Amino acid sequence: MKKGVSLLVALVAVVFVGSTVLATGGPEVIVLHAKKGDVHFQHHKHQERAKCGECHHYKGPDGKQVIDEKAEHAQKCENCHNKSFPNKKLNKPMKAFHKNCKDCHKKHKAPTKCSFCHKK
Ligand code: HEC
Ligand code: HEC
Ligand code: HEC
Ligand code: HEC
Repeated sequence: MKKGVSLLVALVAVVFVGSTVLATGGPEVIVLHAKKGDVHFQHHKHQERAKCGECHHYKGPDGKQVIDEKAEHAQKCENCHNKSFPNKKLNKPMKAFHKNCKDCHKKHKAPTKCSFCHKK
């Protein structure tokens, strides 16, 4: 009887841990370095606010952006958003970050002042 209960507890624990692993991915906090002040980005906290694909995408065969719902192809934004990126509005990491981060903050009435993200 006791054995049955602890087995059940262990099983529940496995299912619980399994589902939290599914809900999050990648590092919990990511420090994005900037001269203006480093940005301590709460990656896992943001995963409760947005689906992976709102930030993660990749270049499809036609060169167009493909939404990556599970972030299976997650990579550094800078790998693509660098000076060889064809769209001049997105050809620096800063431009891609500011558009992604600030647009959503505006939409959700979250702060957009520089010092909210950049901490010296
Ligand atoms: C609000 C935006 C946002 C959301 C939502 C988000 N991520 Fe991320 N993720 C980032 C940023 C920004 C980085 C760091 C990219 C960089 O350093 O250029 C990152 C990095 C990662 C990395 C590490 C990539 C590398 O090569 O360093 C993985 C893995 C990852 N994310 C997986 C996920 C998964 C899985 C989800 C959904 C459960 C998710 N992310 C949701 C913004 C987001
Ligand atoms: C594998 C290449 C690749 C990676 C990695 C990548 N992007 Fe992009 N991104 C693209 C392409 C392609 C487009 C579409 C460009 C266009 O519309 O001109 C795009 C478009 C965008 C846009 C504008 C589109 C929109 O939804 O308004 C933003 C903002 C953006 N990326 C931010 C990011 C951020 C932040 C990261 C890292 C979390 C990232 N990108 C990683 C290729 C990439
Ligand atoms: C899906 C929309 C969305 C995106 C995309 C987004 N944020 Fe946020 N962010 C929020 C919301 C909502 C809050 C909560 C604001 C509050 O508590 O007033 C927040 C809070 C924060 C905070 C405060 C600490 C915390 O997490 O509670 C920082 C710093 C931050 N965001 C930075 C960023 C950066 C850097 C990016 C881009 C890599 C980003 N955010 C992208 C919606 C977003
Ligand atoms: C929502 C978060 C957020 C806000 C608000 C924000 N930034 Fe940023 N900023 C970032 C992120 C993320 C990066 C990318 C850092 C990297 O390239 O790794 C960045 C990069 C930069 C860079 C280039 C990197 C460097 O060397 O400093 C400058 C300059 C900059 N931001 C200035 C500003 C200014 C000025 C404001 C206010 C008008 C501002 N930022 C507001 C998130 C933010």
